[in-house]
Amino acid sequence: MPNAYISGTGGYVPEQIVTNDDLRDGYGIDTTHDWIVKRTGIEARRFAPEGTCSADLAVPAARKAIANAGLTEADVDMIVFATLSPKHAFPGDGVLLQEKLGLCEQGRFIPAMDLRNQCSGFLYGLAAASSMVQSGMVRHVLLVGGETHSAALDLSTRGRTVSSLFGDGAGAVIVSPTDEDRGIRGWYLGADGRFADVLCQKVWDMSKRPFFPVPEGREGPGRVEPEMMWAHMEGRQVFKNAVERMIQVLVSACWDQKIDLADIDLFCFHQANMRINQMVAQTMGIPEEKLIHNIQKYGNTTAATIPLLLAEAEESGRLVRGMKVACVAFGSGFTWGSAILDW
Ligand code: ACO
Repeated sequence: MPNAYISGTGGYVPEQIVTNDDLRDGYGIDTTHDWIVKRTGIEARRFAPEGTCSADLAVPAARKAIANAGLTEADVDMIVFATLSPKHAFPGDGVLLQEKLGLCEQGRFIPAMDLRNQCSGFLYGLAAASSMVQSGMVRHVLLVGGETHSAALDLSTRGRTVSSLFGDGAGAVIVSPTDEDRGIRGWYLGADGRFADVLCQKVWDMSKRPFFPVPEGREGPGRVEPEMMWAHMEGRQVFKNAVERMIQVLVSACWDQKIDLADIDLFCFHQANMRINQMVAQTMGIPEEKLIHNIQKYGNTTAATIPLLLAEAEESGRLVRGMKVACVAFGSGFTWGSAILDW
């Protein structure tokens, strides 16, 4: 059985930078730069322009990852697309990306799989992609995490707790087979559906008939309250569970791989909140210089945070061949995961 490794990385964020001051001055949100930075570490985020969906952001990220792997679009055998902000309810963004990459035009009718595991989506995707590569059924999997949160944020004072956290972006990797002694050594996933309502954006409820929202301020069909269009988050519950589960799933990975935390050269944590990551690092005695962050400039890009981090770290020379990397994520569901990689 071959090993599966990440043969290429790529990232893309839209051009528009929205600072914390822009949230206050441009959108009229009652907030301050200091409030947001103190509680989350976020200084700015990117917003994609009208007319752009997650699959659009994924195109440049995917192209960079494919090129960095030394491949062309025609070499990709499968797409796995992780997002909580797809363009439509169905179909998912995987097929949209396939078409936008020009694969359909080339007659490359490869499978396109969509994953809905929110902030853990990239690590769930890495588990799926590496298992399929190792099985020998596919060679090169294009795994993407991409989000356009800006379209669905309540950018008013009412929604400030959530809307100050999120931004748009996409990250992509290619998962490929290798006979070399390197790659994705193990992945560890978990979920606890008892917390499904603690962090969610319901939009509709298929148990209601009809399921779509009652038009605001009007009589009409529909059984769902308009508030369901916005994300709901019980922040302190999320914080507490994130710290506990991230520690647990990182310890499990080290235990299973028979490695010490000190053997890990780079920790690539999901970027939900700088304070969550600092608390995990402090509790486990991880030195600051082994952690990488991009939350300051991009906010929480959900499924895109880890592949964006990997792409930027590789591009800057911070992540090089031979390093041992630990990726850890926690998110809505609750879901969580970790992976140990020999780069
Ligand atoms: N600016 C100014 N004031 C704000 C803002 C803001 N952006 N957001 C909330 N407030 C106000 C609230 O309205 C509230 O005001 P009130 O006391 O008058 O009612 C006050 O600040 C305190 O609100 P809390 O929600 O209790 O603030 P808390 O200290 O818990 O911080 C936060 C909120 C930052 C969300 C925190 O709970 C947290 O970090 N939770 C983790 C959640 C997280 O990181 N989620 C990311 C997505 S999930 C994931 O990716 C894993």
